[in-house]
Amino acid sequence: MDTRSELQATVEAMVQPGKGLLAADESGPTIAKRFKTIGIESTEENRRAYRNLLLSTPGLGEYVSGVILYQETLGQKADDGTPFAELAARNGIVPGIKVDLGKVALAHAPGDEITEGLDGLARRFVDYKQQGARFAKWRAVYNIAANLPSRLAIEANADSLARYAAISQEAGIVPIVEPEVLMDGDHTIERSAEVTEAVLHEVFHALHRHRVVLEHILLKPSMVLAGSESARPSSTAEIAAHTLRVLKRTVPAAVPGIVFLSGGQTPEEATANLDAMNRLGPLPWNLSFSYGRALQEPPLQAWKGAAAQVKEAQQALLKRARLNSAAALGKYDAAQENQD
Ligand code: 13P
Repeated sequence: MDTRSELQATVEAMVQPGKGLLAADESGPTIAKRFKTIGIESTEENRRAYRNLLLSTPGLGEYVSGVILYQETLGQKADDGTPFAELAARNGIVPGIKVDLGKVALAHAPGDEITEGLDGLARRFVDYKQQGARFAKWRAVYNIAANLPSRLAIEANADSLARYAAISQEAGIVPIVEPEVLMDGDHTIERSAEVTEAVLHEVFHALHRHRVVLEHILLKPSMVLAGSESARPSSTAEIAAHTLRVLKRTVPAAVPGIVFLSGGQTPEEATANLDAMNRLGPLPWNLSFSYGRALQEPPLQAWKGAAAQVKEAQQALLKRARLNSAAALGKYDAAQENQD
């Protein structure tokens, strides 16, 4: 298959009405932090057992069309010896991989950060493809403060995201472009909207300059909302209206899918906000989820490292996936939270 047909086939498998992505690509330090909340150690076997639990959830493919894995997980196997990428694919879930190497301080820009991982990326894709990955993810991070993010950070991160996306497409890998405007801070929703609009505008300008084919990417943005320490938390209606206004101003209709990160919202909030946006449709793009914490918190808490709890944890994951699937269609009802 030529590269364009390969990218098109992957996009079609990932972007389906009522389906979203499971972000299970926590890096070593991040998964250690999550495991700490349930009192278990982050050993290679515990990480494998946990990812085995998630990926072997019966019926997950009904609501989830893709899973983002961490490099270590892509090389690991399920309990029955099946490589995780193969297990996902068998359940109708496209396997993908986080390829950025995390963020560092941006030189000459105090408070701003830049994501690393471009050097050698084309070579790394050869191995990832052999192991079954069909899409990739790169996360850029923007802190909001009175003078942050700087123009420098907005431009430098846009350029890195675009270079990553171009390298991915050349390798036949669909890039998920993830510019995350953090919700840490006491800023207003208006300030979040202003920063997110500037960030997305620059990202799409850079994608154009780097000749990225918009039909063959997915955008993974943060929702527009007041900072987590704001005295006036945003309502669902405000989040939906501000987020859609910013997206309509900045994201071309050629982009097939937008899949939100949850960014520290509770599972219920993340679901309700996605639902509210889809009720304001029709929209030019498929609007769905690519949640990490908002999908995994309930199963993680149900599991707590106990083999006897695996079924219950899988039910908790399946429930969140089902409710988010409803939200992706604008058909979620908060009363469904009380049903199993
Ligand atoms: P959260 O939904 O927990 O923000 O994670 C999504 C993700 O992939 C962050 O890079």
